[in-house]
Amino acid sequence: MVDMQVPFYRHSLAPENSKYVAKVLETPFLTSGPIGKEVEVLLNQYFGVKHSKLVNSWTNGAVATLLAMDIGPGDEVIVPAMTFIATANVVELVGAKPIFIDCDPDTLLVTPDLIKEAITERTKAIIPVHMYGQMCDIKAIKQIIPSGQVIKIIEDCAHSFEAKFNGERPGKYSDAAIFSFYATKNVTCGEGGAIITNDSNLFDRITQSILHGMSAGAADRFKSGQYKHWGMDHLGTKANLPDLLACLLPEQIKTIDERLHLRAKIAERYENAFLGSGILLPKVDSASIHSRHLFPIYIGSVARDQALLKLGEMKIGVTVNYRSVTSMNYYKQKYQLQRNAFDASETWGNGTLTIPLFENMKTEEQGYVIDILLREISPMIGNKLNV
Ligand SMILES: Cc1ncc(COP(=O)(O)O)c(C=O)c1O
Repeated sequence: MVDMQVPFYRHSLAPENSKYVAKVLETPFLTSGPIGKEVEVLLNQYFGVKHSKLVNSWTNGAVATLLAMDIGPGDEVIVPAMTFIATANVVELVGAKPIFIDCDPDTLLVTPDLIKEAITERTKAIIPVHMYGQMCDIKAIKQIIPSGQVIKIIEDCAHSFEAKFNGERPGKYSDAAIFSFYATKNVTCGEGGAIITNDSNLFDRITQSILHGMSAGAADRFKSGQYKHWGMDHLGTKANLPDLLACLLPEQIKTIDERLHLRAKIAERYENAFLGSGILLPKVDSASIHSRHLFPIYIGSVARDQALLKLGEMKIGVTVNYRSVTSMNYYKQKYQLQRNAFDASETWGNGTLTIPLFENMKTEEQGYVIDILLREISPMIGNKLNV
């Protein structure tokens, strides 16, 4: 086991994928064009939704979606404390106020009850996050929205492309669901994302808000062969995905479901190996198909930072997903947040770290990670987990 080195992540895109890029270079559209439209059709089919729009990141897609929903100053948007900062940052970026809620301590997901307590007359949207690849119960969340109040649900699917809850994929019960195709995601083109929706009016607005609010994108402006003036009725941002990146997606989307078992098998081996070791894992609901994007473990706050150093020394790539957003100075100071209001998120955030899980992880690479965790990290935990 000496001299082993395990990266946190290794992508599965082979050099042969350059043929897709070469094909785009033969067309006039380096930016968003016909290839992107083909990917959007694939996404509509995969998720069973009416509309999809490719974007250049989850973050820019979410800003465009909030703008398209006319959410801004004076409005509140409910977001989890346990998520990546982007989920809250997009609310700040459009000038609305993020209202943080805690998570279920076992699953790390937001629940209908936690959301219900945070709803006020200023609430305009909720952004539930399908953490690590396990979906929240969006149908149940929709049911607690007070009748007579319009509250949009935007699913943060950055981790959950191939996930299902009760046999259903994202996008069915929400107003919009947004994906990330960032470098480490299960489906990736380096940087990118997609918005899906069944709401045709919202889709029309998003089509404009991802392109400065312009009434026609580049490909559409020249469609007739003659220049046509465009207008602008609403503010937008620049969030469209170029065909140069979109061309890497079709192959991955077509094969993602058949590749999930590779990630599931790696997760299962970790789960079995850590039984009785003191290492704790998030609970997975039996109604869930988990996309196994990340594999976080909980070892408590006393051991965590020491373990990060040790794993670094042993050349194992690790990261933290996530320290609670409510522990970030920007939010803590701006909104005078108190730690005890987000106890489950902050406790998890102070004692968690994420170990490598990627579909082409070798058996011996995983064996090395397991061996180091059991031999070096598990004894650091002690009898009682410190929070
Ligand atoms: C939960 C969550 N939401 C949003 C994002 C932002 O995604 P992007 O980098 O595509 O903007 C990430 C990125 O990792 C994430 O983990």
